Amino acid sequence: MNNNAFRNLSYGVYIVSTWDEGRATGCTANSAMQITAEPATIAVSINHQNYTNQCIEKTGKFAISVLGEHSEPSLIGGFGFRSGRDVNKFDGIAHEVKGYMPVVSDACAYFTCDVIDKMETETHTVFLGKVTDCDVLKQDTPMTYAYYHNVIKGKSPKAAPTYLPED
Ligand SMILES: Cc1cc2nc3c(=O)[nH]c(=O)nc-3n(C[C@H](O)[C@H](O)[C@H](O)COP(=O)(O)O)c2cc1C
Repeated sequence: MNNNAFRNLSYGVYIVSTWDEGRATGCTANSAMQITAEPATIAVSINHQNYTNQCIEKTGKFAISVLGEHSEPSLIGGFGFRSGRDVNKFDGIAHEVKGYMPVVSDACAYFTCDVIDKMETETHTVFLGKVTDCDVLKQDTPMTYAYYHNVIKGKSPKAAPTYLPED
């Protein structure tokens, strides 16, 4: 297997958020994709060890904030290398409640979803969400996962479904 092949799959960079007993929480994720158009559904793949996983499981809801090339890059590390078990990740982060869900303000767009199905893998749960609300927040080029690696020179932790040992 030539692992470089995996670098040829394209993704964006997102904050997947939800509620933890009334407290906003969430994690960075690159694994979001639209599954169907009518009704609009989006799937996200969230590691079993991530606190976000159990919070989505409990609430049955998640939101996706789409980061742009001009979004503050520290959002990615703040949500991607710390756990909501230990810290309030939304502290000091501009956010608003959209469609009853917490959404990062410094993003291009957001989607709010109700979980309608899920699939378990060895390490990750794939949550399928029906889109209940969405809007464009600001004009920006959505950040790609390649941009995060090549321009921001960012890394990905083991919990990311696309983790490669050289990360
Ligand atoms: C660029 C990037 C992409 C990531 N993509 C995912 C992903 O798609 N799914 C996932 O479960 N974790 C992903 N992660 C890892 C989580 O963000 C990380 O494990 C986080 O600390 C989990 O926080 P939590 O315990 O509060 O849920 C990614 C991290 C980074 C930096």
